[in-house]
Amino acid sequence: MDLDGRVALVTGAARSIGEACARKLAADGARVAVLDIDAEGAERVASSIDGLAVQVDVTDPASVDAAVATVVERLGGLDIAVNNAGVTSEGALTGDLDEETWRAILSVNLDGVFHCLRAEIGVMRERGGGSIVNMASILSAAAFRNHVAYTTSKHGGVGLTRGAAVDHAADGIRVNAVAPGFIRTPLIEVLSPEEIDAVALTHPLGRLGEVDEVAELVAWLASDAASFATGSVYNVDGGYLAV
Ligand SMILES: NC(=O)c1ccc[n+]([C@@H]2O[C@H](COP(=O)([O-])OP(=O)(O)OC[C@H]3O[C@@H](n4cnc5c(N)ncnc54)[C@H](O)[C@@H]3O)[C@@H](O)[C@H]2O)c1
Repeated sequence: MDLDGRVALVTGAARSIGEACARKLAADGARVAVLDIDAEGAERVASSIDGLAVQVDVTDPASVDAAVATVVERLGGLDIAVNNAGVTSEGALTGDLDEETWRAILSVNLDGVFHCLRAEIGVMRERGGGSIVNMASILSAAAFRNHVAYTTSKHGGVGLTRGAAVDHAADGIRVNAVAPGFIRTPLIEVLSPEEIDAVALTHPLGRLGEVDEVAELVAWLASDAASFATGSVYNVDGGYLAV
């Protein structure tokens, strides 16, 4: 993709899928801000791509506003945003799920995406446009036993994507979501190795996805090649949802 001269930010970019997105956007020519609650990890990634590390807690609107302001001030604007930070938890049936876990997941995966969208849109509408990609999941469209909070948060992320896309199309801002299948990262280690092996086989391609396979799709949506794409969810799931 040709992202020369663009400024991008990626949340949750200190490792895994977010890191792969930051590396891909930088390789395609963008100047990239690496945002994460893990300041050390963000610095490690940023320094390896000549990017900018910014610590942020996406659950805190003031922290998000400050981080986006820092990106604009240090990199001169904002054209692309990838709202990727997300968490999961140990599994529990809906009837047994405690309040603390429910809130912790919703506050990062749902509230966090809203805080980021609001701050990013505030900058992009002034500049006449931009492209935003939210990290959804196959669990935006289907359930997974024992993970109702995560499933709910990812379903909600699609609502945020569609709502923001409709609200801000006239501002030249495209908003889409990428929905990965199970990707080989520490996030899925809440499952046992046996469960991970079994879940890999539920993808028709017969394996887990790799972080770079997600980043490719994100970079396409971020670029002008996707100029007519907005308000949609794009699966990169080894066929998981086709079954
Ligand atoms: N791994 C998968 O199988 C998979 C599948 C579909 C969707 N996803 C989604 O992709 C995204 C990235 O997942 P991953 O597998 O790379 O996870 P990961 O746990 O490896 O990385 C998540 C990153 O988000 C950061 N983060 C967590 N809370 C934060 C907060 N409050 N503020 C800022 N940063 C925060 C973490 O520090 C970490 O660097 C998540 O939204 C996840 O739901 C993952």
